[in-house]
Amino acid sequence: MDLRVRQCDRLVGSAKVTGDKSISHRALLLGALAEGTSRVRGWLAAADCMATLEAVRNLGITVEQPAPGELLVHGRGLHGLQAPPGGAPLDCQGSGTTMRLLAGILAGQPFTATLDGHAGLRRRPMERVAAPLRQMGASIVSTNGCPPLTITGGHLQSINYTMPIASAQVKSAILLAALYAEGETTVRQPGPARDHTERMLAALGVTLQINGNFIRLTPPERPLPPFSITVPADFSSAAFPLVAALVVPGSHIRLERVNVNQTRTGLLDVLQSMGAEITREQVGEQAGEPIADLVVRNSALQATQVAGDMVVRMIDEFPIFAVAATQAQGTTLVRDAGELRVKESDRIAALATELRKMGAQIEEYPDGFAVHGPSRLVGTCVHSHADHRLAMALAVAGLIAQGETIVEGAETIGDSFPGFVEVMRRLGARMVD
Ligand code: S3P
Repeated sequence: MDLRVRQCDRLVGSAKVTGDKSISHRALLLGALAEGTSRVRGWLAAADCMATLEAVRNLGITVEQPAPGELLVHGRGLHGLQAPPGGAPLDCQGSGTTMRLLAGILAGQPFTATLDGHAGLRRRPMERVAAPLRQMGASIVSTNGCPPLTITGGHLQSINYTMPIASAQVKSAILLAALYAEGETTVRQPGPARDHTERMLAALGVTLQINGNFIRLTPPERPLPPFSITVPADFSSAAFPLVAALVVPGSHIRLERVNVNQTRTGLLDVLQSMGAEITREQVGEQAGEPIADLVVRNSALQATQVAGDMVVRMIDEFPIFAVAATQAQGTTLVRDAGELRVKESDRIAALATELRKMGAQIEEYPDGFAVHGPSRLVGTCVHSHADHRLAMALAVAGLIAQGETIVEGAETIGDSFPGFVEVMRRLGARMVD
């Protein structure tokens, strides 16, 4: 599908983006492991989360969808999952979160199951989860370190694990497996990866001791109780209209009730340090996460440098950050971000290729990139590389590019933000799909 975008005058008004993807996956998985019926509102019905929903159903869990964005998950307890019928592989489609978190859960099950996915997911590294789960006692066969993964779980031992990379998916896989292990598991992460799994497990009464980047989990003696939550709006989706409002002249928008968990909002801090006018209003809490309205005005930006822990706190936001950097005065430098090469696309290479087509000046490094700004962008034909965040970033770039921008392969936007085009149009963008 092609998305056609025209340069626009200004963005104004208020919008609410869809539910947090990370929390939607976790709510469903933990609902399946709880004993009884959990209700999840504001659930993100995007392709990635639908993959988790299908997988959970194939593991014997009944999930009802009584209304749009609402799930009733009939959990069967920690030991209630069943082997997929006929040994069929669980299709994680393009979702790394589905595969890695399920790997942790399957490590604790007394049966064999295979996790597979689309061509894009089959290229992504899985040894990062397989290695610690094997140490705990699961048998995991990968294909040269990539999917499909065949997992035979069973009796797990606790581990003390120092993660070589800061990844919430790896951390979560270990913590989910640790629910089944004998003894306390400790995980040390090299940086502050998103902490939704820890927050949700703690809310369900699991004993977790957290000290900076160190986490200790004590396996629960009682069943996980069912719960009721409303998923807050996804900061990583809000990031697209947010940056759009910063760079489109005359814009002034409000993004309602966005999750502003600190482990996710590195982009806010970086943009503010560049001169962005973004304020938080209506600060509150939802589903154990801090939320706020984000009020954003078109702003003059100065270049900056991003490295270290800040990269972890904005790991999904680099495609849209690069678009902001094309409008900043000076050279914006991103380092320590080699993880971007193993996301839904090689985001460093794909960003450089596509933004250059629009006239941006961008250089690649093995672990990052440099953008020399400001650049006057021109509308042209660009490609999503089957990466939802790249497609949305390019569409936002199209709002400030002269003429028309065509984003090819834009159907991938539905992997994380099915309402993207509607939200942008409501704010005044000229986009046609
Ligand atoms: C996610 C963790 C991140 C992120 C992904 C979602 C999660 O991946 O990029 O979009 O829900 O745990 P890594 O943990 O591999 O960095």
